[in-house]
Amino acid sequence: MSMFEPLVFSGVQPTGNLHLGNYLGAIKRWVALQENHNCIYCVVDQHAITQAMSVWGGPAELMRNTREVAAAFLAAGVDPQKHIVFNQSRVRQHAELAWVFNCVARMGWLSRMTQFKDKAGKDRENASVGLFTYPNLMAADILVYRATHVPVGEDQKQHLELTRDIAQKFNVDFSDRIAELGLGMETKSGDETISSYFPLTEPVIGGPAARLMSLRDGTKKMSKSDPSDLSRINLIDDPDTISKKIRKAKTDSEPLPSDLEGLATRPEADNLVGIYAALTDTDKESVLRDFGGQQFSVFKPALADLAVAKLGPIASEMRRISADPGYVDAVLKQGGERASVLAEATMRDVRDIVGFLQD
Ligand code: TYM
Repeated sequence: MSMFEPLVFSGVQPTGNLHLGNYLGAIKRWVALQENHNCIYCVVDQHAITQAMSVWGGPAELMRNTREVAAAFLAAGVDPQKHIVFNQSRVRQHAELAWVFNCVARMGWLSRMTQFKDKAGKDRENASVGLFTYPNLMAADILVYRATHVPVGEDQKQHLELTRDIAQKFNVDFSDRIAELGLGMETKSGDETISSYFPLTEPVIGGPAARLMSLRDGTKKMSKSDPSDLSRINLIDDPDTISKKIRKAKTDSEPLPSDLEGLATRPEADNLVGIYAALTDTDKESVLRDFGGQQFSVFKPALADLAVAKLGPIASEMRRISADPGYVDAVLKQGGERASVLAEATMRDVRDIVGFLQD
């Protein structure tokens, strides 16, 4: 049985307020994966416009945020020479494949997506159709490169399961045609062997920061759109702001426990310990070995110093890179050209598989 070439793909929406959750849950882990994988990292600007314009801010804001997110990738250590960095809308094949997936995915599958329900809220009739079909575009982002691994935070897990369902249905529906064209990999589908064109992508989710919570409410995810800026640490926050937000973070009045069990019913404490662990590349157990029994009056200043030491250089690098938008634009353009070559190779196959005439 042949294996698909390992390839990493991931993306971030340019919707403002890039925060510590985006960094620790995703971007920092992308940087680690660069060591021994080929990686493609994308600013998903087409996803940003699925919500109301008041949320994504309109054209000028979208362009600013796209450049800022790209600058954050670079500042965090993503290497745009060895790997590929670009903005999604430059590579038309994402949207082209998303159309095919609109015809593969079922209404019932998309209706179960919790992110759609959260974002559409009560007024579902008024949500954009794009918000509903968003996961099909996300599947296309990944599969247009036949990527095998996708590092993301926990909140994207359901979308990646859908990506696998779409790949599987496409493979099964077109298996004969894929085999006839000689484009498939032999893979197992239940007891049968089928000729698969798309890999079943593996989510790469994990570590102590897979789901960072709001600093104001340990039961809510840290999010770009939370109206309270105190709920999150933004990547561009200055040292004083970072320290203030950690000092003001909601906690309880108990000292830190010495084992994981002691965190189970204390979401705010659990969250801060997770942040400490992720920033030091350790795990929560080891943080509790150092701080178990200590009061927050000791732990919070230590966490603030750590966060400032780790995030300060990224913020200043982001500012330095952003001061030269010509550089960021050149990176995205060159990345887009390289990505387009790969994406077009896939789309030529897909057009043949589906039966679209082409030259
Ligand atoms: P987005 O832009 O909301 O978030 C970008 C990345 O940050 C992670 N993340 C978090 N991780 C831990 N704790 C948090 N509180 C937290 N908040 C966000 C997200 O899981 C994500 O990894 N649909 C995606 C973008 C996307 C994509 C893709 C990702 C579009 N196409 C293809 C991977 C592959 C999104 O909205 O992420």
